[in-house]
Order: sequence, then structure tokens, then C-alpha cells
Amino acid sequence: MISLSRDVSSIEAPPIAEAVGWLRHMRTDKPLLNFCQAVPSYPPAAEVQKEIARLALEPSMGGYTDVLGIKPLREALARHFSDAYGANVAFDCLGVTAGCNQAFAAVMMAIAESGSNIVMPTPWYFNHHMWLRMLRIEARGFPAFSEGQNYPDVDAAAALIDKNTRAIMLCSPNNPSGAIYPAPIIEAFHDLAMDRGIALIVDETYKDFRPTNEPAHGILQRAGWEESFIQLHSFSKIYALAGYRLGAIVAGPRILSEAEKVLDCMTICPPQITQRAVLFGLDAVTAWKEEKRAIMRHRLDMLRDSFARNALTYQLVSSGSYFAYVRHPFEGVPSKTVAQRLAQELAVLSLPGSMFGPGQDQYLRFAFANMDAEFMPGLVDRLVESQTAFKW
Ligand SMILES: Cc1ncc(COP(=O)(O)O)c(C=O)c1O
Repeated sequence: MISLSRDVSSIEAPPIAEAVGWLRHMRTDKPLLNFCQAVPSYPPAAEVQKEIARLALEPSMGGYTDVLGIKPLREALARHFSDAYGANVAFDCLGVTAGCNQAFAAVMMAIAESGSNIVMPTPWYFNHHMWLRMLRIEARGFPAFSEGQNYPDVDAAAALIDKNTRAIMLCSPNNPSGAIYPAPIIEAFHDLAMDRGIALIVDETYKDFRPTNEPAHGILQRAGWEESFIQLHSFSKIYALAGYRLGAIVAGPRILSEAEKVLDCMTICPPQITQRAVLFGLDAVTAWKEEKRAIMRHRLDMLRDSFARNALTYQLVSSGSYFAYVRHPFEGVPSKTVAQRLAQELAVLSLPGSMFGPGQDQYLRFAFANMDAEFMPGLVDRLVESQTAFKW
């Protein structure tokens, strides 16, 4: 038998696959309520699908593109982000990737190495943590929220920074809590990063599912942000193009050209057909995007209403864009045990808090983008049922 890398074999299995695996041993014939993965329940816009079909027949479509993406898309995205943040983002601060996970991977390899550390709130997005561990970069956790405050504390992050810290990593809107961090808080983290000579990185995969079109923060308006700020984006959710793989990095040219080396080795270029489809969709499907944002807001409202039911002892501690983070009532029972029983006995698939970092065993994550609003009361019915059905 060949030996395996300890850096990889010591890391947990892909969390979504593990949770889906529990369904092989279901002991109920209730219809599945799948709150596991953050994927939209609907297909891409029909116009984008048609454009993809048309593009597929172009002879050049099978070719590579520039490592950081085609120029028209980089220019269009620079304009798009300039508008969204009231800023002036230059074309050479924009790199296109094969998804936001890849953007994160490339940026981390560009700015950190084995032995360095990244300060990031817990619960964190599991793939961020898994990737850092593979690179032997330490993830230093601090609380993502506390009683009455749904965002992390700048001083708590400051206390963790040392000479090996390369960045503070935030995710807003947050996976797994759905929390949308206020602009002044994100800016205060940037002040701290600048003060300490490190980077602030923000994963904004869910930015379009905020209830407002106001800029998420004003950092891109600040002079010299290029040396202290990195923003990561995804086209998986807002365009429902998850399987087509496209994301973006907003960063200074010096950082981007390091990331470019990594991206070249990983995928050589992002998929050309998706780059062209997103270029087409950026302005062409604005009304479709607004309609989907409204659907997601309605799902969130229904979820919050349903959780407000008195009989429920599960507590909705945080909810917002795409996600609800819920405290389960079974004191001391590991979240994985609770999530597994909910899946196998009551056909409710969620993810256990333990997949999102240390100290999260009292929580479950519900990703509601995959479920229509009409299913929210049924979810709560089953949670109520679990309160008496589960004996430990
Ligand atoms: C916070 C966060 N970042 C990145 C990703 C991955 O996005 P992409 O599909 O663009 O790689 C996800 C997907 O769930 C996510 O939740």
C-alpha cells in the first residue's frame, strides 16, 4: 500500500458528502427536507442557459484563456464592483477564478506559508479551515458572535495577532450563521489589519443576498487598500451557476500576480464558457436576480416566523443571508449525533456545528436556499417532534 499525505489524511472528510451519506440509513419514509448544502433550488436564468448553449457551439470555446480570466470580464467586473462599492476598482485589481473556494486557496498560498497563522472567527466555513490545515497554516479562532452581538469583536482578533499572522479572515454575509456584519465593523477590522501590517480578507460569496444594495463596506474607497485588503467573490449563488465554477478575487496587483502563479498550476484558467456566460449575465439578468433575492428574503421571513413558535426549544441564534444557525436543546449531546438522528429518523438534513470549528457542538446549520418557503413550518414541526422523540 502506498503511504498517504498526513497533511491531507489527518483532515476531516468533505462535510456535505458525509452528511448526505447519513441518508443511506434513513428509518423514515417522510419526504426529505434538505437543508444541508448552500445551493439555490432553481436553475440559472433561462437567458444565461441559452447563452451557454449558444457559446458551446463556438469553435474557440474549448480553449484556455488568460490565467486571471478574459479581459472583457475583468473590465466588466471592475466596473461592477466599482458601482457596488462606490469605488474605483482598476482592471488589474480583478482576477477571475474557478469559484470562490479556488480564490481563497490561491490567495492563501499567495500571502501565507507553513507556520504562519490566520485569525478568523469561529464558527468558520469548513473549506477555509480544511485548506489552511493542508498548508500547515494555523487557523486562530475567536468568537463570531456573543450574547446580543451578531458579529465578531475587533479587540478579540487584535489579541490573537502575532508576528506570524498574515491576515484576518472574515466571511460576510456569514457561512454558517447568515449574519451580515455592519460596514463600520468590517472597516474596523481593516483598520486593525492596516495597523498591524497584515491583510483583511473578506469572503463575500453571499453579498447579493443582503436586504440592501448599499455597499457592504467602504474599504475599496480607501486610498492604498490594494496593500491591505482582499475580497473574494462567487458566481455560484447569485447566478445559480455553482457547477459551472466561477469566482473572483479583488486585490492589489502585487498580490494578484502571486495568486496568478497558483491559479496557473491549479486550473490554468477559469472555464471559458462560464466567463462568457457571466459576462453576458452581469447586466442582462438584473430583473431575474432581483426576483431570486426576493424569494430568498421570503424564505428567511417564513423560517423566522416558523421558529418563533412557542413549542420549539431549538433556538434560532442567528439567521440572515442563506443560513440559519440554531442552538439545539439537547444539552451536551454532540451536534453530529443530533444532526444524524434528525436526518435518519425525521428526514431533516442539516449540518452539525462541529463541522464549523471548535466549541460549536450545541449548534446546527440550516441552509435554506435549497428549500421553498412553504417547507419552513414543516421543518419546525419535525424539530418539535424530535424534542419528545429523541431519548438519549
Ligand atoms: C463562504 C463560502 N465561500 C466560498 C464558497 C464556495 O463558492 P464557489 O462555489 O464559488 O467555490 C461557499 C460555498 O458554499 C461558501 O459558503
